Amino acid sequence: MLDIQHLTKVFEPGTVNEKLALENIDLHVNRGDVICMIGSNGSGKSTLFNAISGTFPITAGRILLDGKDITRMPEYRRSFDIGRIFQDPTKGTSGSMSIQDNMMLSMSKGMKGLKYSMNRKNQELFRELIRPIGLEDRLQDNVGLLSGGQRQALTLIMVCMSHPKLLLLDEHTAALDPKNARIVMELTEKYIEKEKLTCMMVTHNMQFALEFGNRLVMMDGGHIILDVSGDEKRRLSVKDLVDEFKKKRGSGYTPDNGLLT
Ligand SMILES: Nc1ncnc2c1ncn2[C@@H]1O[C@H](COP(=O)(O)OP(=O)(O)O)[C@@H](O)[C@H]1O
Ligand SMILES: [Mg+2]
Repeated sequence: MLDIQHLTKVFEPGTVNEKLALENIDLHVNRGDVICMIGSNGSGKSTLFNAISGTFPITAGRILLDGKDITRMPEYRRSFDIGRIFQDPTKGTSGSMSIQDNMMLSMSKGMKGLKYSMNRKNQELFRELIRPIGLEDRLQDNVGLLSGGQRQALTLIMVCMSHPKLLLLDEHTAALDPKNARIVMELTEKYIEKEKLTCMMVTHNMQFALEFGNRLVMMDGGHIILDVSGDEKRRLSVKDLVDEFKKKRGSGYTPDNGLLT
């Protein structure tokens, strides 16, 4: 469903700050894949998500979604098909708008831009959607009043309301305390199953990455250095991942960069 071909991204080319962030990436994501993305800081995970979302023009390569070349499609148009959640809980919702108005916007997006008006039926639908996170009596409250965990859970529900073809989660529980992180992760799992989502999720937790999803991709220095799925993934241990990382990266490895957490 997502086909990334020879993707290269150079930041600030031709300057002293030139940075090759992604080099000749090839990645084919199948419908229904749930991919955990790991790799040390600066390895290019977020840049890959930015490239897929259309945050910036890429330097070389092509990106196809369901066979359609989206390489030059602007970000807002891709956002109808590509849902994204960031680490920062304030990024996915508008804090100065009520929960129901935020949800109304997501609903319109799901209907590919059609405008909907608030009515009792929609309110009931919204209430049911947010009942699992205990917000059912707070439809009129401003989102700015919610905790980080509540807000991130709401963001997830809203992103799923627009039925994305592809969901990109960039350490979306990393800024939450352990209890809220667990709640949001359980909700994530529930939605992935219920909506049969295709998902790429960046995590720093290798053990979690081994347990979650059907596929694991490890990045380093702007390259994909490991891509395993199915039985091959299930057989791996954290030690295997570290060994693989050391082997692919060579001798310069120091285990202090978050890959071991
Ligand atoms: N907008 C940008 N301008 C310049 N360099 C960037 C920009 N975004 C990311 N980079 C650089 O690209 C590399 C990859 O970054 P990133 O994709 O954020 O890594 P990760 O998400 O794996 O931690 C890093 O060296 C980072 O400093
Ligand atoms: Mg990142």
